[in-house]
Amino acid sequence: MNIGLLGTGNLSVALGKAWATAGHSIVVTGRSPDRAKAAAEWIGDAATPIDPGQLADQAEVIVVAIAWGGLEEALRLVGGPDGMLSGTTVIDCTNAVDFATGRLLPETGSAAELVANLAVGAHVVKALHLFAGASWPFAGEVGASPVVAICGDDAGALNRTAALIGDLGARAAVLGGLSAARQAEEAAGFVMRVVAAGANPRFAVPDVDPALIGLGTANP
Ligand SMILES: NC(=O)c1ccc[n+]([C@@H]2O[C@H](COP(=O)([O-])OP(=O)(O)OC[C@H]3O[C@@H](n4cnc5c(N)ncnc54)[C@H](OP(=O)(O)O)[C@@H]3O)[C@@H](O)[C@H]2O)c1
Repeated sequence: MNIGLLGTGNLSVALGKAWATAGHSIVVTGRSPDRAKAAAEWIGDAATPIDPGQLADQAEVIVVAIAWGGLEEALRLVGGPDGMLSGTTVIDCTNAVDFATGRLLPETGSAAELVANLAVGAHVVKALHLFAGASWPFAGEVGASPVVAICGDDAGALNRTAALIGDLGARAAVLGGLSAARQAEEAAGFVMRVVAAGANPRFAVPDVDPALIGLGTANP
């Protein structure tokens, strides 16, 4: 698949490397051509730096890896408000969180819903905001692979995102529609607060086996 990375920072490079290893082609762009070039070099031979205006044409799936404060500007650069991303799967990884306190910054809604408003007609999926980019690809045992909670309104976009999460060595769990994104984003602040309290968030949620209460398990 041709994956478009919007953002030239740490997360873009980490995801780009992991997906390149899984056999995907990568195009990367941002507000700085120099930083797009550097990010492509860090990712490796599978990656090509492009101008923001080329992203809509060159990517089958777009991953938004932008600092919260730059979301609007970045999506304008790639023609989101003009409908250039219409029909495209757009995966939003933004953490709209005050990193000092863990408080979610949007007073209502979510970063993912802001992305949906700025990328007119795109199929937005919230995903991959909770785990550090350095987590990927997961190389441990299959039974211990991380679960990546995702949400979105388009079934095809959710399936595409779940497949890309599978290529990182993780499993996707669909929470529901994009209106679930605020809760998914709040979880990042919760994780930060647990860490700040001196505990490992891995042990801060209950160990519940869905099979034991008659539910299926997350796949793939
Ligand atoms: N790093 C992780 O492990 C990780 C994991 C999960 C989620 N996230 C989330 O993913 C997003 C990116 O994280 P990161 O670690 O990659 O951050 P980063 O290394 O600081 O990169 C941020 C990116 O946002 C761009 N940006 C900032 N302001 C902008 C603006 N006004 N207009 C256009 N572009 C702008 C930066 O462009 P310039 O370089 O030109 O400033 C850069 O490409 C954040 O929301 C973060 O919370 C990160």
